[in-house]
Amino acid sequence: MKKILVVNGPNLNLLGMREPEIYGKETLADIEAKIAETACELGVDVEFYQSNCEGEIIDRLHDARGKADGIILNAGAYTHYSIAIRDAISAIELPCVEVHLSNVHAREEFRHKSVLAGVCKGVICGFGGESYILALKGLLKIV
Ligand code: DQA
Repeated sequence: MKKILVVNGPNLNLLGMREPEIYGKETLADIEAKIAETACELGVDVEFYQSNCEGEIIDRLHDARGKADGIILNAGAYTHYSIAIRDAISAIELPCVEVHLSNVHAREEFRHKSVLAGVCKGVICGFGGESYILALKGLLKIV
């Protein structure tokens, strides 16, 4: 059975209460439950991880090497400036899909740039929690 790791970065633990007009009312637990349900239907194993710390996210990505078949990553604000997370994605040589709940391109200019996208297989943004489901389906086509 294929195994996909879903990683969420800083402030995403506050989903549901954090700027609901931008990120929606679903909590991270709600979103993870929907991903798990879809994964079950698709016959794939999913594991979830959330951290507010850059180094912990990097450690978790390193740990996935040789164990997971692919990564779904919402790195939150780190998306826009963490070269260290970009290097970790390159280093582990696993297909990664960058995900965002909001349409980052319709927001502030500093959110338009992703330093991660160039080392990811694809990017999905703007569909709220559904972005993760679309990412899972897309990733499963290539792993
Ligand atoms: C986000 C978009 C980022 O710009 C922001 O810093 C987040 C959430 C999203 O899912 O829309 O924390 O990644």
